[in-house]
Amino acid sequence: MISRVSVCTIVLASFAALGLAACSHRAPQAVTSAAPGTDDAAVAPAAAAASRGARIFAAQCAACHGAGGSGGPIGPSLRDVRKKHDLAAVVEIVKNPSTATMPKLFPAQLSAQDVADVSAYVETL
Ligand code: HEC
Repeated sequence: MISRVSVCTIVLASFAALGLAACSHRAPQAVTSAAPGTDDAAVAPAAAAASRGARIFAAQCAACHGAGGSGGPIGPSLRDVRKKHDLAAVVEIVKNPSTATMPKLFPAQLSAQDVADVSAYVETL
């Protein structure tokens, strides 16, 4: 009786170990493909979007808002704008600017993905 329990325990423990091994094998792959150089999986999609967004910003926004959003001849500085507007708010501003001075680039020049990416970048300034 005792030996049968022990066998069960060993079998269960083996399955548990296999399960853990499978998990720990998969997890690093997901992190590596999503965000090289960081071990925080949650940050990965935002970081990828932001780096794509930086290129969009340079092409579509920097003429007014300055390189890196430091402020330009027409547009205000966007440094720390995340303290005022969260990501959803910036997406909304880019999609539907509140004044005529800021051009409506969506959807003619910017796709919804472009807007999401450039807004993610703006949130890093
Ligand atoms: C033709 C110039 C111009 C371009 C191009 C432009 N903006 Fe603007 N933007 C402005 C002006 C002017 C304002 C301030 C008035 C307003 O809110 O409409 C502004 C305001 C903003 C604000 C709100 C700032 C605040 O402090 O509340 C955000 C965010 C923003 N722009 C992001 C962007 C992004 C991202 C792009 C590129 C996709 C972009 N803008 C392109 C002129 C521009």
